[in-house]
Amino acid sequence: MSGKNILLGVTGGIAAYKAAQLVRLLVKQGASVKVVMTPTAKQFITPLTLATLSQNPILVDFFNSENGEWNSHVKLGLWADAMIIAPATANTIAKMANGIADNLLTTSYLSARCPVFVAPAMDLDMFAHPATQKNIATLKSVGNIIIDAEDGELASGLSGKGRMAEPETITACVSAYFEQNSQLSGKTIMITAGPTYENIDPVRFIGNYSSGKMGFALAEAAAALGAKVILISGPVKLSSNHPNIKRIDVTSAQQMFEACTANFAQCDAAIMAAAVADYRPATVADQKIKKAENNLTITLEATPDIAKSLGQMKSPKQVLVGFALETENGLQNAEDKLKKKNLDFVVLNNANEAGAGFNCDTNHVTIITSGGEKIEFPTKSKSEVANDIVNQLINCLNK
Ligand code: C5P
Repeated sequence: MSGKNILLGVTGGIAAYKAAQLVRLLVKQGASVKVVMTPTAKQFITPLTLATLSQNPILVDFFNSENGEWNSHVKLGLWADAMIIAPATANTIAKMANGIADNLLTTSYLSARCPVFVAPAMDLDMFAHPATQKNIATLKSVGNIIIDAEDGELASGLSGKGRMAEPETITACVSAYFEQNSQLSGKTIMITAGPTYENIDPVRFIGNYSSGKMGFALAEAAAALGAKVILISGPVKLSSNHPNIKRIDVTSAQQMFEACTANFAQCDAAIMAAAVADYRPATVADQKIKKAENNLTITLEATPDIAKSLGQMKSPKQVLVGFALETENGLQNAEDKLKKKNLDFVVLNNANEAGAGFNCDTNHVTIITSGGEKIEFPTKSKSEVANDIVNQLINCLNK
């Protein structure tokens, strides 16, 4: 939690009194805390208490009437490494689920790019109501993390599910999230993606059907775990806007080779997911080649093998991962590549199999390690496959 910026949203429910303890725990664990309250929350706990504990002014209104300044929800949303809404009333949950932005808290929620934790707190019947349950399910489906309400005595005198999770539980949940999502912090990972185009003449090239999806999914997965990612991409129709991803666009195998060798020394690991052309025209015509009566023969020469070169440059601490896209004798070919390119592990997939390989959203891979382990995964989305590969990379980096 240390050094993290936490935006705590407090809404108008009796459990708001627990927000004081929550702020104390977060600050004690090293977080910077800003509190945004709904107007009704002020009826349950004084802003002065939360301002004193958080050591920051409390934000309630869009405008600060004292100095005429605007409390920018956009800046707040960008400042936060995590937003916690505790307590989250049925009313605020309903607004969040429906994109209603009628106060500073709900507006900041819509602006937040960070993970959002929601701790519902209300009476048992409000909590059990299908409308509330549907809204909670909506929040979950868009990636919010729900810290479930607890069973017990309620302020109404009734007993049942609806009590806000204890501040200790909320803090533990947020801190576990940060821990789990920072496994690659401080690491720099280079990832290649997409095809390469090898020019024949000014208007023609030799290319392949690689979409770049696997490489981009790997970049996102590594960046989400805190890595600084250098994504070296051939021509693709994809975009990435994670702040940890620095993208270098290249076209040919030679350009990819130069970008990779220039950057590898500063990297802890490299994942070679690009479908690099193995051959390129030995000469590139200056002008468009004219159609003639006879057949055309183009002499091809080998491109540099980037993975193999990095395998030779690799220090004992660096981890190198390659892909083997095969149509036959997969295991044998993958094992040969592992040795020839000095890889730590190779990810084998079959180009002929439905739901695997180029230009689709799923992949079916087997990881083969330099220690002789073979781990086959079921067919999964490329982002799930990326997580499996990145987990294997973390194992190697921690060895
Ligand atoms: O030798 P082959 O092309 O089958 O090996 C595939 C692996 O090697 C992939 O990880 C691919 O990104 C990498 N490769 C490379 N440079 C090449 C050819 C392949 O880095 N010229």
